[in-house]
Amino acid sequence: MRVLGIETSCDETGVALYDTNQGLLADCVYSQISLHIPYGGVVPELASRDHIRKLVPLIRQVLEQTSSQPSELDGLAYTAGPGLAGALLVGASVGRALAYALHIPAIAVHHLEGHLLAPMLSTRAPSFPFVALLVSGGHTALIEVKALGRYRLLGETLDDAAGEAFDKTARLLGLPYPGGKELEQLAAIGQPGVYRFPRPLVRQGGLDFSFSGLKTFALNTWQKSDQSQQTKANIAHAFQEAVIETLAIKCRWALEQTHCQRLVVSGGVSANHALRTGLNPLGEVYFPEFSFCTDNGAMIAYAGAQHLLAGHRADLSIQIFPRWPLTTQV
Ligand code: KG4
Ligand code: ZN
Repeated sequence: MRVLGIETSCDETGVALYDTNQGLLADCVYSQISLHIPYGGVVPELASRDHIRKLVPLIRQVLEQTSSQPSELDGLAYTAGPGLAGALLVGASVGRALAYALHIPAIAVHHLEGHLLAPMLSTRAPSFPFVALLVSGGHTALIEVKALGRYRLLGETLDDAAGEAFDKTARLLGLPYPGGKELEQLAAIGQPGVYRFPRPLVRQGGLDFSFSGLKTFALNTWQKSDQSQQTKANIAHAFQEAVIETLAIKCRWALEQTHCQRLVVSGGVSANHALRTGLNPLGEVYFPEFSFCTDNGAMIAYAGAQHLLAGHRADLSIQIFPRWPLTTQV
Protein backbone atom coordinates (compact mmCIF):
# COMPACT_ATOMS: atom_id res chain seq x y z
CA MET A 1 0.00 0.00 0.00
CA ARG A 2 1.47 3.36 -1.08
CA VAL A 3 0.59 6.58 0.72
CA LEU A 4 1.57 10.11 -0.23
CA GLY A 5 2.02 12.35 2.83
CA ILE A 6 1.59 16.13 2.80
CA GLU A 7 2.71 18.43 5.63
CA THR A 8 1.99 22.18 5.57
CA SER A 9 1.07 23.05 9.17
CA CYS A 10 3.68 25.76 9.73
CA ASP A 11 6.82 26.83 7.86
CA GLU A 12 7.91 23.60 6.17
CA THR A 13 6.35 22.14 3.03
CA GLY A 14 6.87 18.38 3.25
CA VAL A 15 5.89 15.66 0.81
CA ALA A 16 6.83 11.97 1.11
CA LEU A 17 5.90 8.59 -0.28
CA TYR A 18 5.63 5.64 2.13
CA ASP A 19 5.07 2.04 1.12
CA THR A 20 3.83 -0.36 3.81
CA ASN A 21 6.03 -3.16 2.37
CA GLN A 22 9.08 -1.25 1.18
CA GLY A 23 9.21 1.58 3.72
CA LEU A 24 9.96 5.20 2.93
CA LEU A 25 10.53 5.69 -0.82
CA ALA A 26 11.00 9.47 -1.00
CA ASP A 27 10.95 12.45 1.34
CA CYS A 28 11.22 16.08 0.19
CA VAL A 29 11.11 19.06 2.53
CA TYR A 30 11.22 22.71 1.59
CA SER A 31 11.94 24.96 4.57
CA GLN A 32 10.65 28.55 4.58
CA ILE A 33 13.04 29.62 7.34
CA SER A 34 14.92 32.13 5.13
CA LEU A 35 11.58 33.73 4.16
CA HIS A 36 10.70 34.44 7.80
CA ILE A 37 14.18 35.41 9.08
CA PRO A 38 13.68 39.18 8.46
CA TYR A 39 10.57 39.11 10.72
CA GLY A 40 12.13 37.03 13.52
CA GLY A 41 9.20 34.57 13.45
CA VAL A 42 6.71 32.85 11.15
CA VAL A 43 4.41 35.27 9.28
CA PRO A 44 1.23 33.18 8.70
CA GLU A 45 0.13 34.84 5.44
CA LEU A 46 3.60 34.49 3.89
CA ALA A 47 3.72 30.86 5.03
CA SER A 48 0.39 30.04 3.30
CA ARG A 49 1.44 31.74 0.06
CA ASP A 50 4.73 29.88 0.00
CA HIS A 51 3.02 26.52 0.58
CA ILE A 52 0.83 27.30 -2.45
CA ARG A 53 3.96 27.94 -4.52
CA LYS A 54 5.90 24.89 -3.36
CA LEU A 55 3.42 22.08 -2.71
CA VAL A 56 2.53 20.93 -6.23
CA PRO A 57 6.16 21.07 -7.49
CA LEU A 58 7.21 19.00 -4.44
CA ILE A 59 4.50 16.39 -5.16
CA ARG A 60 5.78 16.16 -8.75
CA GLN A 61 9.36 15.83 -7.45
CA VAL A 62 8.45 12.93 -5.14
CA LEU A 63 6.60 11.11 -7.94
CA GLU A 64 9.50 11.67 -10.38
CA GLN A 65 12.13 10.56 -7.85
CA THR A 66 10.30 7.28 -7.33
CA SER A 67 9.26 6.90 -11.00
CA SER A 68 5.66 6.60 -9.75
CA GLN A 69 2.41 7.54 -11.41
CA PRO A 70 -0.39 9.15 -9.40
CA SER A 71 -2.51 6.12 -10.32
CA GLU A 72 -0.17 3.92 -8.23
CA LEU A 73 -1.13 5.73 -5.01
CA ASP A 74 -3.44 3.91 -2.57
CA GLY A 75 -4.01 6.76 -0.15
CA LEU A 76 -3.35 10.43 0.48
CA ALA A 77 -2.52 11.66 3.98
CA TYR A 78 -2.40 15.34 4.90
CA THR A 79 -1.89 17.25 8.14
CA ALA A 80 -5.32 18.53 9.19
CA GLY A 81 -4.14 20.25 12.40
CA PRO A 82 -3.06 21.66 14.72
CA GLY A 83 -1.23 24.53 13.06
CA LEU A 84 -1.69 27.79 11.16
CA ALA A 85 -5.16 27.85 9.55
CA GLY A 86 -4.09 29.21 6.15
CA ALA A 87 -1.08 26.91 5.95
CA LEU A 88 -3.15 23.85 6.89
CA LEU A 89 -5.80 24.74 4.30
CA VAL A 90 -3.23 24.53 1.49
CA GLY A 91 -2.24 20.94 2.32
CA ALA A 92 -5.80 19.86 3.15
CA SER A 93 -7.29 21.32 -0.08
CA VAL A 94 -4.63 19.86 -2.33
CA GLY A 95 -4.58 16.52 -0.49
CA ARG A 96 -8.36 16.08 -0.33
CA ALA A 97 -8.87 17.20 -3.96
CA LEU A 98 -6.10 14.95 -5.29
CA ALA A 99 -7.52 11.96 -3.42
CA TYR A 100 -10.97 12.71 -4.85
CA ALA A 101 -9.62 12.99 -8.40
CA LEU A 102 -7.67 9.73 -8.03
CA HIS A 103 -10.60 7.87 -6.37
CA ILE A 104 -8.43 6.95 -3.38
CA PRO A 105 -9.05 7.47 0.34
CA ALA A 106 -7.78 10.58 2.10
CA ILE A 107 -6.57 10.49 5.71
CA ALA A 108 -6.60 13.61 7.92
CA VAL A 109 -3.53 13.26 10.14
CA HIS A 110 -2.91 14.95 13.49
CA HIS A 111 0.46 16.74 13.28
CA LEU A 112 1.52 15.62 16.76
CA GLU A 113 0.62 12.02 16.03
CA GLY A 114 2.96 12.31 13.04
CA HIS A 115 5.73 13.51 15.36
CA LEU A 116 5.18 10.83 17.96
CA LEU A 117 5.18 8.03 15.37
CA ALA A 118 8.25 9.44 13.54
CA PRO A 119 10.71 7.17 15.46
CA MET A 120 8.88 4.20 13.83
CA LEU A 121 10.59 5.18 10.57
CA SER A 122 13.98 4.22 12.07
CA THR A 123 15.56 0.78 11.87
CA ARG A 124 15.46 0.74 15.69
CA ALA A 125 11.73 1.40 16.05
CA PRO A 126 9.82 1.30 19.36
CA SER A 127 6.80 -0.93 19.85
CA PHE A 128 3.64 -0.03 21.79
CA PRO A 129 3.07 0.83 24.61
CA PHE A 130 5.35 3.77 25.37
CA VAL A 131 5.47 7.20 26.95
CA ALA A 132 6.04 9.96 24.38
CA LEU A 133 7.71 13.25 25.12
CA LEU A 134 6.75 15.71 22.39
CA VAL A 135 9.05 18.70 22.31
CA SER A 136 8.50 21.04 19.39
CA GLY A 137 8.20 24.74 18.68
CA GLY A 138 4.46 24.76 19.34
CA HIS A 139 4.00 21.94 21.86
CA THR A 140 5.51 20.26 24.88
CA ALA A 141 3.60 17.28 26.20
CA LEU A 142 3.95 13.90 27.85
CA ILE A 143 1.58 11.32 26.41
CA GLU A 144 0.89 7.72 27.29
CA VAL A 145 0.64 5.82 23.99
CA LYS A 146 -1.08 2.43 24.33
CA ALA A 147 -1.60 1.79 20.60
CA LEU A 148 -2.29 3.68 17.38
CA GLY A 149 -4.93 6.29 18.25
CA ARG A 150 -4.96 5.44 21.98
CA TYR A 151 -3.38 8.47 23.59
CA ARG A 152 -3.67 9.82 27.15
CA LEU A 153 -2.32 13.24 27.99
CA LEU A 154 -0.14 13.04 31.11
CA GLY A 155 1.12 16.61 31.18
CA GLU A 156 1.73 19.63 28.97
CA THR A 157 3.23 23.08 29.07
CA LEU A 158 1.28 25.78 30.86
CA ASP A 159 2.98 28.53 28.85
CA ASP A 160 5.90 28.38 26.37
CA ALA A 161 6.73 25.15 24.55
CA ALA A 162 10.32 23.90 24.95
CA GLY A 163 11.25 24.88 21.37
CA GLU A 164 9.60 28.28 21.84
CA ALA A 165 11.68 28.81 25.01
CA PHE A 166 14.83 27.90 23.05
CA ASP A 167 13.86 30.31 20.25
CA LYS A 168 12.95 33.22 22.54
CA THR A 169 16.11 32.81 24.63
CA ALA A 170 18.21 32.54 21.46
CA ARG A 171 16.62 35.74 20.19
CA LEU A 172 17.36 37.73 23.33
CA LEU A 173 20.97 36.50 23.16
CA GLY A 174 21.13 37.89 19.61
CA LEU A 175 21.16 34.53 17.80
CA PRO A 176 19.46 34.12 14.39
CA TYR A 177 15.91 32.74 13.99
CA PRO A 178 14.65 30.12 14.69
CA GLY A 179 17.40 29.76 17.30
CA GLY A 180 17.11 26.30 18.89
CA LYS A 181 19.97 24.77 16.93
CA GLU A 182 22.07 27.94 17.20
CA LEU A 183 21.57 28.03 20.98
CA GLU A 184 22.67 24.40 21.20
CA GLN A 185 25.88 25.23 19.31
CA LEU A 186 26.59 28.17 21.60
CA ALA A 187 25.84 26.10 24.72
CA ALA A 188 28.45 23.57 23.61
CA ILE A 189 31.22 26.14 24.22
CA GLY A 190 29.68 27.39 27.48
CA GLN A 191 31.37 26.66 30.77
CA PRO A 192 29.30 24.39 33.03
CA GLY A 193 28.56 25.57 36.57
CA VAL A 194 28.96 29.33 36.07
CA TYR A 195 25.19 29.93 36.24
CA ARG A 196 22.37 27.84 37.65
CA PHE A 197 18.86 28.35 36.24
CA PRO A 198 15.74 27.18 38.11
CA ARG A 199 14.09 23.84 37.24
CA PRO A 200 10.45 25.00 36.87
CA LEU A 201 7.58 23.06 38.51
CA VAL A 202 9.73 20.14 39.66
CA ARG A 203 8.74 20.32 43.32
CA GLN A 204 5.01 19.95 42.76
CA GLY A 205 5.41 16.39 41.50
CA GLY A 206 3.07 16.91 38.53
CA LEU A 207 3.80 16.33 34.87
CA ASP A 208 3.01 19.82 33.52
CA PHE A 209 5.78 22.14 32.34
CA SER A 210 6.40 25.87 32.49
CA PHE A 211 9.31 27.28 30.51
CA SER A 212 8.43 30.95 30.15
CA GLY A 213 10.28 31.96 33.33
CA LEU A 214 13.58 30.63 31.98
CA LYS A 215 13.82 33.24 29.22
CA THR A 216 13.20 36.02 31.75
CA PHE A 217 15.89 34.49 33.97
CA ALA A 218 18.22 34.44 30.96
CA LEU A 219 17.44 38.08 30.16
CA ASN A 220 18.05 39.24 33.74
CA THR A 221 21.28 37.23 33.96
CA TRP A 222 22.50 38.69 30.66
CA GLN A 223 21.64 42.29 31.61
CA LYS A 224 23.54 42.00 34.91
CA SER A 225 26.59 40.35 33.28
CA ASP A 226 29.74 41.65 31.54
CA GLN A 227 27.97 40.76 28.23
CA SER A 228 31.04 39.01 26.80
CA GLN A 229 30.84 36.24 24.22
CA GLN A 230 31.91 33.66 26.82
CA THR A 231 29.18 34.86 29.20
CA LYS A 232 26.63 34.48 26.42
CA ALA A 233 27.77 30.88 25.90
CA ASN A 234 27.69 30.24 29.67
CA ILE A 235 24.09 31.50 29.84
CA ALA A 236 23.10 29.35 26.84
CA HIS A 237 24.67 26.35 28.57
CA ALA A 238 22.85 26.96 31.87
CA PHE A 239 19.51 27.55 30.09
CA GLN A 240 19.80 24.37 28.04
CA GLU A 241 20.87 22.37 31.11
CA ALA A 242 17.79 23.57 33.03
CA VAL A 243 15.41 22.63 30.18
CA ILE A 244 16.97 19.19 29.74
CA GLU A 245 17.10 18.37 33.45
CA THR A 246 13.47 19.45 33.88
CA LEU A 247 12.37 17.30 30.92
CA ALA A 248 14.39 14.35 32.27
CA ILE A 249 12.83 14.58 35.75
CA LYS A 250 9.29 14.67 34.33
CA CYS A 251 9.99 11.82 31.88
CA ARG A 252 11.24 9.67 34.77
CA TRP A 253 8.08 10.43 36.77
CA ALA A 254 5.88 9.67 33.74
CA LEU A 255 7.58 6.30 33.20
CA GLU A 256 7.16 5.47 36.90
CA GLN A 257 3.50 6.52 36.99
CA THR A 258 2.57 4.52 33.88
CA HIS A 259 4.83 1.51 34.69
CA CYS A 260 6.18 1.87 31.17
CA GLN A 261 9.72 1.00 30.12
CA ARG A 262 9.89 2.75 26.76
CA LEU A 263 10.30 6.46 26.22
CA VAL A 264 9.89 7.99 22.77
CA VAL A 265 11.13 11.54 22.29
CA SER A 266 10.10 13.49 19.21
CA GLY A 267 9.51 16.95 17.73
CA GLY A 268 12.04 19.58 16.66
CA VAL A 269 13.84 19.79 20.02
CA SER A 270 14.56 16.03 19.92
CA ALA A 271 17.33 16.93 17.43
CA ASN A 272 19.26 18.43 20.37
CA HIS A 273 22.30 16.26 21.10
CA ALA A 274 22.58 17.28 24.76
CA LEU A 275 18.90 16.39 25.26
CA ARG A 276 19.51 12.94 23.77
CA THR A 277 22.49 12.43 26.08
CA GLY A 278 20.46 13.65 29.08
CA LEU A 279 17.47 11.38 28.42
CA ASN A 280 19.29 8.20 27.37
CA PRO A 281 20.00 7.02 30.96
CA LEU A 282 16.23 6.81 31.61
CA GLY A 283 16.11 3.36 30.02
CA GLU A 284 14.88 2.22 26.63
CA VAL A 285 14.79 5.58 24.85
CA TYR A 286 13.93 6.13 21.17
CA PHE A 287 14.47 9.19 18.99
CA PRO A 288 13.56 9.89 15.35
CA GLU A 289 16.34 10.13 12.79
CA PHE A 290 17.61 13.70 12.74
CA SER A 291 15.82 14.52 9.46
CA PHE A 292 12.48 13.45 10.98
CA CYS A 293 12.72 15.55 14.17
CA THR A 294 11.51 18.79 12.61
CA ASP A 295 8.42 18.95 10.39
CA ASN A 296 8.41 16.59 7.40
CA GLY A 297 6.04 14.72 5.09
CA ALA A 298 7.46 11.27 5.95
CA MET A 299 5.89 11.19 9.42
CA ILE A 300 2.51 12.20 7.93
CA ALA A 301 2.73 9.54 5.20
CA TYR A 302 3.66 6.94 7.85
CA ALA A 303 0.86 7.91 10.27
CA GLY A 304 -1.62 8.04 7.36
CA ALA A 305 -0.60 4.57 6.20
CA GLN A 306 -1.16 3.15 9.70
CA HIS A 307 -4.64 4.68 9.84
CA LEU A 308 -5.44 3.44 6.37
CA LEU A 309 -4.43 -0.09 7.41
CA ALA A 310 -6.74 0.31 10.42
CA GLY A 311 -9.60 1.22 8.06
CA HIS A 312 -9.79 4.93 8.88
CA ARG A 313 -10.70 7.50 6.23
CA ALA A 314 -11.55 11.21 6.04
CA ASP A 315 -14.92 12.17 4.58
CA LEU A 316 -15.24 14.29 1.44
CA SER A 317 -15.20 17.66 3.20
CA ILE A 318 -12.04 19.76 3.36
CA GLN A 319 -11.65 20.24 7.08
CA ILE A 320 -8.83 21.65 9.17
CA PHE A 321 -8.44 21.85 12.95
CA PRO A 322 -6.03 24.68 13.89
CA ARG A 323 -6.53 23.77 17.58
CA TRP A 324 -6.93 20.04 17.96
CA PRO A 325 -6.17 18.10 21.16
CA LEU A 326 -4.38 14.84 20.31
CA THR A 327 -6.71 12.91 22.57
CA THR A 328 -9.78 13.76 20.42
CA GLN A 329 -9.16 12.08 17.06
CA VAL A 330 -11.71 12.71 14.30
O1 KG4 B 1 8.65 20.14 15.29
P1 KG4 B 1 9.07 21.44 14.73
O2 KG4 B 1 9.78 21.44 13.39
O3 KG4 B 1 7.88 22.42 14.55
C1 KG4 B 1 6.76 22.42 15.35
O4 KG4 B 1 5.87 21.56 15.13
O5 KG4 B 1 6.72 23.29 16.24
O6 KG4 B 1 10.00 22.11 15.83
C2 KG4 B 1 10.68 23.32 15.62
C3 KG4 B 1 11.33 23.72 16.94
C4 KG4 B 1 11.90 25.14 16.90
O7 KG4 B 1 11.52 25.79 18.10
C5 KG4 B 1 13.39 24.91 16.84
O8 KG4 B 1 14.18 25.95 17.36
C6 KG4 B 1 13.53 23.64 17.67
O9 KG4 B 1 12.44 22.85 17.26
N1 KG4 B 1 14.81 22.96 17.43
C7 KG4 B 1 15.75 22.79 18.38
C8 KG4 B 1 16.84 22.13 17.74
N2 KG4 B 1 16.51 21.92 16.42
C9 KG4 B 1 15.25 22.43 16.26
N3 KG4 B 1 15.78 23.12 19.67
C10 KG4 B 1 16.89 22.81 20.37
N4 KG4 B 1 17.96 22.19 19.84
C11 KG4 B 1 18.00 21.84 18.53
N5 KG4 B 1 19.05 21.23 18.01
ZN1 ZN C 1 5.96 19.92 14.25
